[in-house]
Amino acid sequence: MISQQLNDQITRVGPGTAAGAVLRRYWQPAALSDQLRGSFPVPVNLLGERLALVRDDAGTLTLATRVSDPAETPTHHHDSGDIVIDGEGPRYPAVERKGVVFAYLGPDAAPAFPSFDCFRAPDSHVFAFKGLWECNWLQALEIGIDPAHASFLHRFLEDEDPDDGYGKQFRDRAADTNMPMTQVLREYPRPEIKVDEMDYGLRITALRHMENELTHVRITNQIFPEAICIPMSREMTITQWHVPIDDEHCYWFTIFTSFQKPVDKDRMRDQRLQEHRLPDYAPIKNRSNSYHYDPAEQTALTYTGMGLDINVHDQWAVEGMGPIQDRTREHLGRSDVAIIKYRRMLRRAIGSLEDGAVEDLPMRGAVDVSAIRGPLSNDAIASTGDWSSASFAADMARRAECPWDASV
Ligand SMILES: [Fe+2]
Repeated sequence: MISQQLNDQITRVGPGTAAGAVLRRYWQPAALSDQLRGSFPVPVNLLGERLALVRDDAGTLTLATRVSDPAETPTHHHDSGDIVIDGEGPRYPAVERKGVVFAYLGPDAAPAFPSFDCFRAPDSHVFAFKGLWECNWLQALEIGIDPAHASFLHRFLEDEDPDDGYGKQFRDRAADTNMPMTQVLREYPRPEIKVDEMDYGLRITALRHMENELTHVRITNQIFPEAICIPMSREMTITQWHVPIDDEHCYWFTIFTSFQKPVDKDRMRDQRLQEHRLPDYAPIKNRSNSYHYDPAEQTALTYTGMGLDINVHDQWAVEGMGPIQDRTREHLGRSDVAIIKYRRMLRRAIGSLEDGAVEDLPMRGAVDVSAIRGPLSNDAIASTGDWSSASFAADMARRAECPWDASV
């Protein structure tokens, strides 16, 4: 439980806010490259600011300030009609990286990009997409750093054939076994969780101790300030930012990264466009239609009764907390250790900025950000006594075979 004042401090992101000042010290996903195919300017609502992407004759992207918008327009909707740029308003640098347009809304020079796998992989091995969630960004992030939730929220009562799992999360086999991930998550729902502070954020290790002295090791990451990097399948990882549109809406932006074959972008895009409405990437299953909840499905097939797309499960869970989760009434437990450590990091960063010490923030200051690689993110099954080195070796083996330079 935290005070209302503290909850406001860590959730609110508009200009002049404490958490907003932290987020503004990092590149923020602002749009998908897919959104640049139509006419400019492209409206963007980001960190409570009403902006638009413009492109000059040389092709350089800039995020400009927008004016004369109808006041009643919901902030996440793309405006119809003319977009008017405020010539006097702030302008922010914007660059395309791997299917995402990133913008820097902070003071001083923008930082370098870290050499994460999602940025190092060639364009053929990445695919980017986004989706709207109608809630504050922090609760969206916090579900992503809770390794226990997958065993319940994403529980599948029957296992699909993993060969049909392309492009979907938790449908692969676990590590190098024939056991579907869905079975591991279902049968071992209470992981032992370890959290280590890293230069990029947090490394979260979830250990599911199985039979025969075997342990399933799942390594996921919190990348400061508002991203996660998690395994999707043996072949792909997910790097996902939870980007505030304003205090009560956010987009998840994901770069899917493949260590093996080129990504089938058309298939990945088609899968996701079936679940989302353009132009604002709002999910077709949402609060207004009860997320297509089906009690018969809940009895026979899934924990939520809301279909097989795990994004919908997460969306229901985080939107169900209300526009901004009331943390004055929450009860954190032992499985929330990563959430507790993350909030500590965020509060420390807020304090550093209040002291004028931006160099104390993760990946800012004297560190060579471009030397930060990985992060390691994978599932492995190991001898219980040897899980740490076995997990590391599994990731190194995958990187050694990778057709692009994924060395760490
Ligand atoms: Fe989830």
